[in-house]
Amino acid sequence: MGDMVIARAIIRYALGLFLVGLLALMVIDGDPIGIFTGRIAARSSVLETFDVKELSSADRGLVYFAFGDFSGLSSDTLRVSAAPWTVTTAALALHAADGNVDRVSSDLISEIFRGFGFHTPREIGNWPADLPRPELPYPLGQNVGTASRLLPPIAITIGNFGCPACHSSVMYDKNGRPDPTRVWLGAPNTSINLQAYTDALYDSLRTYTNEAQDDLLWHAIEKLHPELSVRERLTLEFAILPLLRRQLAELEVTIGRLLPYRGSLAGATNGLDSLRARLNLIPPGSLVEKSVFNSVPDLGGRLYRDRFLNTGAYTTPGHEEPREIQAENITPAHRRRLAAIVAYFTVPSMGVTPETAISHIGDVEDVMAWMADYRPQPFPRQLDRTLLAEGRDVYAAHCASCHGVYDDNLDTPRIVSFPNWLGDVGTDPRRLELFGQDVADALNQSVYGVYIHARTSTEYSAPPLTGLWASAPYFHNGSVPTLRALMYADERPQKFKVGGHAVDLDTVGIAGAMGVDGEWHYPPDVTPWSTPAEVDTTAFGLGNDGHEAEFTPLNDAEKRALLEYLKAL
Ligand code: HEC
Ligand code: HEC
Repeated sequence: MGDMVIARAIIRYALGLFLVGLLALMVIDGDPIGIFTGRIAARSSVLETFDVKELSSADRGLVYFAFGDFSGLSSDTLRVSAAPWTVTTAALALHAADGNVDRVSSDLISEIFRGFGFHTPREIGNWPADLPRPELPYPLGQNVGTASRLLPPIAITIGNFGCPACHSSVMYDKNGRPDPTRVWLGAPNTSINLQAYTDALYDSLRTYTNEAQDDLLWHAIEKLHPELSVRERLTLEFAILPLLRRQLAELEVTIGRLLPYRGSLAGATNGLDSLRARLNLIPPGSLVEKSVFNSVPDLGGRLYRDRFLNTGAYTTPGHEEPREIQAENITPAHRRRLAAIVAYFTVPSMGVTPETAISHIGDVEDVMAWMADYRPQPFPRQLDRTLLAEGRDVYAAHCASCHGVYDDNLDTPRIVSFPNWLGDVGTDPRRLELFGQDVADALNQSVYGVYIHARTSTEYSAPPLTGLWASAPYFHNGSVPTLRALMYADERPQKFKVGGHAVDLDTVGIAGAMGVDGEWHYPPDVTPWSTPAEVDTTAFGLGNDGHEAEFTPLNDAEKRALLEYLKAL
């Protein structure tokens, strides 16, 4: 360690002046990141281990979905949602270890990210056997790569979100217990808590990028990243850390946090405010007071949609009227339309520009090819075939008109037709209210207006119910913890927990119950694998009312059969 410190001091002395000179030349409009004149970008290091050209479209789509950076690892996104991985991991680890550098290790990094609901699996349960097994060196949904350039000599390792941060789930065993070593891609991450992540990041960076803690920070960096190049050291020392310090000092006197809005609950994220920020609709220095969170859905059956988001806000120009989609309507043109919409999701979630998102529509078409054959993790217990058959009839009579028609197969029913129904079933309206005309206008008038037609709505879309059993909590806002409580509205708890939970395979949803203390608890033998968050359904946007009338015609026996059938979807 001592040698490293001396070596660093020498390097500082020799190259520091040179770099500082260069910096001084290149500081344009007071932004030292102007040294990145022109943009520098990295590829996701795991993505680079695949020869994607050799793969089928669906396999390539899976690889992009799992590890694709969608150009989110660049000097541009570094100003938005990406992070200088080397520094942030060191600061987060020091923070978690109370400044004790001996406790800083890559295992600690995994543990910290698991706390926020990221997965650190050993295996991906639905990875095709004929595709090379991926290395999994980083938390899933954190793409990491090193951008570098010879002149000026800079290098920076960047981390940013990928699709599986939100669209992958731990797998569940036959008792509904989570197995965090195995994940299923495309199932919703019902534990991801990006607010907890950004809060921890803000606290850690403020504490440990402070000049007074410089030695400690560098010890942690060296411990976690012993292979760090000289070029990256210099970039961190002379460009990134000074910039970070300045930005943090500014945040401290303005909004006092990293983002001007609340980023999430567990399992539900705030794409809307993230988009508003990207569209410059949040005045600088101000805080968004009211936010809603969207529960992440399973990706099964989504090609049958003709518009996206739970409000149906995004369609494509010329397709303003919702229409029923059947298998024969899922043409290459339809896929391309949907891919163009989904590519835009990289703007709020990864902080890329709309132009960059447009350049990845082709990659997202591959993702769509994978999604077309996607199946959720099978329900982990044997189902009762008599009940299933009864439930199928109840579903066909009472649910299919809004949620889509599934084929007759009782083992793995597949959606065959989807009405794209929009309407009001009495659920919390805040989400509809907050997606305002300002957002729709800004999007439609942007370069992306060619690909997306955005509109406000007073109605929610009835989603496909594929993968439902592992998707709790339910409704667009994740306000109901089990399917049983969804069917029996008087059993919906006012408060419950979500994150790192087990699945109750009988009530189908988050395992837990009201205790004698009047509080809702996980079962005593469940140790959550991530940090849980509390859902208070009396809070803004989290109301758990609605969708009751659809169940009133059903008696207990019918509900029981229906519940069994829903497990199979
Ligand atoms: C930060 C979390 C997050 C990330 C990252 C993310 N998504 Fe999503 N995704 C969501 C949420 C939340 C929804 C539900 C939004 C809604 O219904 O309004 C969603 C919905 C979807 C849907 C279904 C849309 C619909 O209305 O049926 C698709 C398809 C999708 N995402 C694909 C992707 C792809 C592909 C990526 C990576 C390029 C990605 N998502 C990255 C959170 C995320
Ligand atoms: C009149 C149309 C309509 C009918 C009929 C209907 N639903 Fe729904 N359903 C909706 C809408 C709209 C939503 C979205 C509500 C929200 O998220 O705010 C929804 C949401 C749901 C959800 C939550 C999905 C999720 O991913 O969180 C479930 C589960 C559900 N419905 C089950 C059923 C079942 C089972 C039936 C048959 C008894 C049924 N619905 C009948 C319109 C309908």
